[in-house]
Amino acid sequence: MKILFLGDIVGKKGREVIRDFLPLIKRDYNPDFTIMNAENAAHGKGLTIKIYNELLNYGADALTMGNHTFSKKEILLHLDEMDKLICPVNHIDGMGEGYRIFKVNDKKLCVINVLGRLTQEEYTTDPYEALDAIFEDTKDLNIDMYFIDLHAEATAEKRVLAEVYKDKCIAVLGTHTHIQTADEQILDGCAFMSDVGMCGPFNSVIGRDIDECIRKMVYKEKTRFTVAETDPVLCGALIEIDDETNRAINIERIQIRPKDKRI
Ligand code: FE2
Repeated sequence: MKILFLGDIVGKKGREVIRDFLPLIKRDYNPDFTIMNAENAAHGKGLTIKIYNELLNYGADALTMGNHTFSKKEILLHLDEMDKLICPVNHIDGMGEGYRIFKVNDKKLCVINVLGRLTQEEYTTDPYEALDAIFEDTKDLNIDMYFIDLHAEATAEKRVLAEVYKDKCIAVLGTHTHIQTADEQILDGCAFMSDVGMCGPFNSVIGRDIDECIRKMVYKEKTRFTVAETDPVLCGALIEIDDETNRAINIERIQIRPKDKRI
């Protein structure tokens, strides 16, 4: 079995690159299940019901979130009907489903979304307690595979969490930094990568307008969150699972840069 995971979709450009390239990726890699991180999909922060449906139409089977899950308040009106949405299990607001179980071929796949604590302490509870509670809650449900989207800032924190849960999971894959790391590896049957990277404007500051970020960081100007309008990059990872053992046997980085790349 193959599972495709695409990193933080940032704004319209991120959605467009999914629309344009996901059919080609599916043709070439033939994934059985596709997960996308959608926490930046609506204008760089949050998600709306319209964009949720748009991403499902493009080919998402499940959508994970992050620190911006509730940035667009209208999502609160639709949580009940968004049955492919997984919200951070340890977000202090405690809304939405922190994990969901999907039937993939003849297997049960549990997809989990959890936030790291470093730089996110003010709106998170302990990720280890939250994850332990999921494993306890699902222990009698005959789950074949657990997949964790770890939405966190620090590479060290991500690796530590992967080490703690690698025996239980087929994957601990990072999101949130928007920059793809080159540390993909299999940890005793668990696919790990610190950050799968974003699907969004390539020539940008992690998806945001460069000039605006300079004005904010250097000149301390008050700015609004403007998504860059440059051509997008698509980033993600494909993991391969041994159908006999239900353990990961391969992870491959995916990155498609725009033709007008600067480097
Ligand atoms: Fe994030």
